[in-house]
Amino acid sequence: MNDITGATPAPPGGAAVLEAIGRLRVVPVIVLDDVAAARQLASALVDGGLPVAEVTFRTASAARVLAELAGDGRLLVGAGTVLSAEQVDRAYDAGARFVVSPGFSRPVVERALELGLGVLPGVATATEIMAALEVEVSTVKFFPAQACGGVGAVRALAAPFPQVRFVPTGGITAASLPAYLAEPAVTAVGGSWMASPKLIAAGRYDEVTRLSAEAVAAGIASTTDAPAGGR
Ligand code: 3PG
Repeated sequence: MNDITGATPAPPGGAAVLEAIGRLRVVPVIVLDDVAAARQLASALVDGGLPVAEVTFRTASAARVLAELAGDGRLLVGAGTVLSAEQVDRAYDAGARFVVSPGFSRPVVERALELGLGVLPGVATATEIMAALEVEVSTVKFFPAQACGGVGAVRALAAPFPQVRFVPTGGITAASLPAYLAEPAVTAVGGSWMASPKLIAAGRYDEVTRLSAEAVAAGIASTTDAPAGGR
């Protein structure tokens, strides 16, 4: 089977995973407690052309949901809301290929790098971006994106840090997605709108697929529209 990152031969660990996320352009953020729903969710995302999921460590069953999605074999699966090095280990053991945290934690980043995982620490300020750069991390989650100033804030933060790539997450919707994707400093966008707990609880996998496909189309359009030399 091909490596999910599409790279042959695969470049080492986390860098390849971040490249894959940059190609996918959108990362569904999953908050799911019902392990039994994981396989159907996997199919809904894959059917929408979005074979990636960030499973947040916010529910009691998160590690089992992550393991189930990773075990499905069709998705690039990571863990979100990772707050400690110990949770990085749990995510790794469950099959995560990347970890995402809401803020910048040096122990989280260091453990993730040790394990060869992709790591997206959260930042909302220039100071936090500098902390990430000090540990040689230059792809960061911008969180909470909408509440922290949205696209304008990404642009302003990107100006002094041309080497940094952002994954804005938090409060983003299908409607606001294209504007984020159009920013050259934005490698991908995260969000729960296409696989919200409400949709999953209602069994609306058709809608998960539709919204995922819509997000993929926005990603393709943004790449096609990008000026030469951008991104
Ligand atoms: C996250 O954990 O990254 C965010 O809570 C996702 O944000 P959203 O639910 O507003 O999309």
